[in-house]
Amino acid sequence: MDENFKEAFEKTRIAGSIAAGALNEVSKIIKPGIATAEIDKICYEFINDNKAYSAPLFYRGYPKSCCTSANHVVCHGIPSAKILKEGDIINVDVTAMKDGWHGDTSRMFKIGAVSIKAEKLINTTYESMMKAIEVVKDGIHLGDIGSTIQKHVEAQGFSVVQDFCGHGIGKKFHKEPNILHYGEAGTGEKIKTGMIFTIEPMINLGKYETKTLNDGWTAVTKDKSLSAQFEHTIGVTKDGCEIFTN
Ligand code: MF3
Ligand code: CO
Ligand code: CO
Repeated sequence: MDENFKEAFEKTRIAGSIAAGALNEVSKIIKPGIATAEIDKICYEFINDNKAYSAPLFYRGYPKSCCTSANHVVCHGIPSAKILKEGDIINVDVTAMKDGWHGDTSRMFKIGAVSIKAEKLINTTYESMMKAIEVVKDGIHLGDIGSTIQKHVEAQGFSVVQDFCGHGIGKKFHKEPNILHYGEAGTGEKIKTGMIFTIEPMINLGKYETKTLNDGWTAVTKDKSLSAQFEHTIGVTKDGCEIFTN
């Protein structure tokens, strides 16, 4: 690995661990009766306490420090006074910027006991991300990532969102390449050692289509079915990859 990769990996490791740390803090307080704005506050404060910035805050006019996407919200849900209740599922997505470098990660949280269907959706989404991470190494094609996710998800009868994708990340929050969560093995750009990007599949219980609400951000499933997402930021190595957001 040359010197440039070394700095990128070191810096992303730090930003990534702050983002993951914010989600750990969220896991300690999330429960029925809390408002999504309280989750936002926890994320903002943890990131601030670690002398980092919340990259979403004011990003293209986005008003908050994290995204809170519950139930049929696919992504980019805006924290608000909305109260979480028993049975809800919610994705919290956090991006820390430290020393100019970004780390981006999200997890699902179950609010009390959730339905068996919701449980299966969450598990399948997580597995699809991890299976994709396992195939990543120098020389594979971007299509290998997408096809790994799509196969696993569709085998369970769920669908892969196509309107949003993973992304290169570094000194910029979002950069090339786009990481599609569907596709064909052996197709697309070859990935190389040193590349840093996110894998963040959004998986729907029903159909794959989404629509964006009038706030300009909140993306929901068109058929109002449940949606789940996980996200890690990873760096490609010769034999595999490093997860920066564990
Ligand atoms: N964190 C999201 C991602 O995974 C992006 C959120 S942009 C925001 O790429 F402005 F909505 F915060
Ligand atoms: Co991302
Ligand atoms: Co994210």
